[in-house]
Amino acid sequence: MSNDYTTINCLSKHDGKEVRLAGWLYKGRSSGKVQFLVIRDGTGLCQCIVEKSKVPEELFTQLKHLGQESSLTVTGTVRADERSLGGYELAVTSAKIISPADGYPITPKSHGIDFLLRHRHLHFRSQRQWCIGKIRHTVIDAIRRFFNDNGFILIDTPILTATAGEEQQTLFEVDYFGSPLYLSQTGQLHLESAAMSFGKVYCFGPTFRAEKSKTRRHLTEFWMVEPEVAFIDLDGMLELAENFVSFIVACVLQNNKSELEALAADIASLEKIKPPFYRLTYTESVDILTSQKTVDFLAAQLKEFQNQKQQYETKITELETQQAGQIKQWQKDKIAAELIELRTVLAETNTKIENNPKHAALAAEFKWGKDLGGSDETIISQMHDKPVFVTHYPKEAKAFYMKADRENEKVVLNFDLLAPAGFGEIIGGSMREDDYDLLVARINNQGLKVEDYDWYLDLRRYGSVPHGGFGLGVERTIAWLTDQKHIRQCIPFPRMMDKVYI
Ligand code: 4AD
Ligand code: MG
Repeated sequence: MSNDYTTINCLSKHDGKEVRLAGWLYKGRSSGKVQFLVIRDGTGLCQCIVEKSKVPEELFTQLKHLGQESSLTVTGTVRADERSLGGYELAVTSAKIISPADGYPITPKSHGIDFLLRHRHLHFRSQRQWCIGKIRHTVIDAIRRFFNDNGFILIDTPILTATAGEEQQTLFEVDYFGSPLYLSQTGQLHLESAAMSFGKVYCFGPTFRAEKSKTRRHLTEFWMVEPEVAFIDLDGMLELAENFVSFIVACVLQNNKSELEALAADIASLEKIKPPFYRLTYTESVDILTSQKTVDFLAAQLKEFQNQKQQYETKITELETQQAGQIKQWQKDKIAAELIELRTVLAETNTKIENNPKHAALAAEFKWGKDLGGSDETIISQMHDKPVFVTHYPKEAKAFYMKADRENEKVVLNFDLLAPAGFGEIIGGSMREDDYDLLVARINNQGLKVEDYDWYLDLRRYGSVPHGGFGLGVERTIAWLTDQKHIRQCIPFPRMMDKVYI
């Protein structure tokens, strides 16, 4: 069957020739003697022109009443047309309806996010989710390619784990034949043992955290890729991380320009993502947060938000007036969709205006020793046009396994990578404490049980070496690349603290 069909992404090879497409009706519009049917087939969208004089009358009528998302095949001649989606359109000569759909719940009018998440199984078919899905595919392919081509061995670390790898508060407990086990928060500890066998390793899989925060950056199930390297130092890791992230960005730019354009992502900024990235120590970041520079920066931002608010309000009033006038139904639908979008961004802008003074106060009062919070990261990352490494955090604010800086025992040899333009942390990583006694002291200090980590301590008993690694969150990376405000758009079926839809 497949041999009989052409796909939309291959239409350029068939200019002037007759082809058959198989897909779904994305949207349709009729103007008396001509119908404009936009068909999607999984590879793209194509406008199909049906002229009344060129097809049997019965088919013309059937197509006119065909519901959104009906499945069908269409045959016609490929015509280059610059104004058309994808540059080609189809002059239809015949069509066959496979399965008519009636009352598809997601109409071209916009819907609220709650509705869309409840209909994620169908919302997948929308342009936005389709573009993000394709970019996610590229990102995951790039991740595997980068490590496979650079001498890393893939290690599948377990999902059911006996101990915490990160904060204990975010462990998901599983009843394992009457005893508790936990869903993996990180593959790191197991991966460290593999690094002592293979040198350079990585794991890549679903990761679970019972995050009790309903923020745009947190899911309870997300995908993380973690490399771990023996005989490396902090500088070596920063280099690895910036080459890795730059490679992912380059692959997305190479494979998904049209998807990025459709999502209105900032391609020009992405083109700048090349090594070296900015490097700041935690202490330097605190100095920035508590400086006049941040006060001025946030004040300017507040002004900008207020201007945007005014513009959105004016536009909303304009559209409401138009909507009340004598216009066609499809125009009303278009305006209704625009209004939903505008009201959403207006609400977001209002939240930003409300939060601005709170964030300013948090930054001004920031005390050395605290972990950087979401709003602090946002400020630092908004001040930079390329990703920023923040290194050397206070020991007390960080996980037990991070290696203390031998030149300043108050801080650890770690880093977070903050994506630019306010996206914040996409990578967390560190050198690992490789001294047996210091590691035992850290485990005790954090109230963890040394006996739970006995196997992990073996790695320090038998041939301990300097080593380190990091974890990159796939959904946060995609949200940054595709300019999505919330990472729930960047995983097929999101799991969040307050809701699991389908
Ligand atoms: O900074 P984190 O907690 O680091 C670790 O788990 C280390 N064990 C990694 C390592 O060194 N091998 O998490 C790493 C990244 C974060 O920077 C973020 O991108 C992502 O994982 N992440 C989340 N993404 C979505 N939802 C959550 N709840 C996330 N928590 C972390
Ligand atoms: Mg982190």
